[in-house]
Order: sequence, then C-alpha cells, then structure tokens
Amino acid sequence: MSPTLKILGIVGSLRRDSFTLKLMRAAERKMPAGTELRILTLEGIPPFNQDEEQQPPPAVTQLKRAIRDADALLIATPEYNYSIPGVLKNAIDWATRPYGDNPFRDKPGALMGATIGGMGTSRAQYHLRQVLCALNVHLLNQPELMISHADHAFDDEGSLRDEERAAQLDKLLQALVAWTLRLKGPQSE
Ligand SMILES: Cc1cc2nc3c(=O)[nH]c(=O)nc-3n(C[C@H](O)[C@H](O)[C@H](O)COP(=O)(O)O)c2cc1C
Repeated sequence: MSPTLKILGIVGSLRRDSFTLKLMRAAERKMPAGTELRILTLEGIPPFNQDEEQQPPPAVTQLKRAIRDADALLIATPEYNYSIPGVLKNAIDWATRPYGDNPFRDKPGALMGATIGGMGTSRAQYHLRQVLCALNVHLLNQPELMISHADHAFDDEGSLRDEERAAQLDKLLQALVAWTLRLKGPQSE
C-alpha cells in the first residue's frame, strides 16, 4: 500500500474568524483518499531580524520542520493591499534562513485564497508565486482557486455554498495530489 501523502496547509491570516482559515478547513474535509492535511497557522512568529537567524524562535523551528516533513504544500493567502500579508512573507523569510537552509526547496505546492473583495486574491497569489519561485517550490499552475466575496461564500458548517466553487476546490486538491505523485516519480504510485 502507498504511504499516506502528507500535505502541509499554511494559512496566511492570523485573524480568529479568518475566511482563509475557513477555506483551509473546507479543504481539510475534502482531502482525497490516501492524504492527510496538517494545518499550520503562523502564530508566535516574531518579525524577522537577521541578527537572530542562527537562533530562530521555536515557532520558526517548528514551521521549518513541518515544511521538511511534508510531501507537498497547500498555501492559503488573503490579499492585503494587492499583495500577500506581511505575516506570510515574514514567515517565509524566517523559514528560508540562514542562507542555504531552505526547507521549501523542491516541494510541490498549490495556492488558494479567499477575500471579501471581488478579485479573489489574484494579485496576492501572483505575488506569492513570484516569491515561491525564488525558493524553488514547484507550484501547480492550474487549476487556480480564488474565492471572492468570501463573507458570503461559506455556510454555517464552513463549507463553500456555491457548488461550482466547491467543485473547484475538489479539483485543486486532486490536482495537487497528482502533481505530487508525478514529481515523486513512479516508485511512489
Ligand atoms: C491591511 C488590509 C489590506 C487589504 N487589502 C485588500 C486587497 O488589496 N484586496 C482585497 O481583495 N482585500 C483586501 N483586504 C480585505 C481582506 O480580503 C479581508 O480583510 C479578509 O477578510 C482577509 O482575510 P482573512 O479573513 O483570512 O483574515 C485588506 C484587508 C486588510 C486588513
């Protein structure tokens, strides 16, 4: 039997009632068979200071270990001022230091995002793609999942109300699994 694929879900919002976290939780309930999703929020990560990169705080060590342990990454981002939130960029910066110690390298990954705005985090996601390109994350190009008007998108159970959007989430998760197995090579299937 193939081993379970470990997917790390990184949530780029610290807000208690975050729509981004809701989207990740909706994904958790839809994970394809043979996978497990571990959700990580970015609480407890201080502002990056390069003076401290040789002795990172425990939350950063934990983040790096979680990335290393994962077979693939699923990153959910809000959009702040047409880009990714500082907490997400800050966590990425910590995780990639000191130079040469980059747990993101060669990881398969997929992006998604939710916003109350009408553009569905598209600008943030394309910025995030640029950042992850520098880290050599192998991101899935298609399908994309951009949830606009997120304040109306979820029902009381936290599932996506709209069937088309729910189906897009299914497709994204299935594509991430297929992409991960493809990058791992035939021995993983
Ligand atoms: C500082 C800040 C900047 C924002 N800029 C944008 C933006 O550029 N585009 C957008 O669609 N929403 C923007 N928003 C609205 C967010 O989509 C909204 O606050 C959303 O709920 C954040 O995600 P969360 O619910 O996961 O915390 C901004 C919100 C904040 C706090």
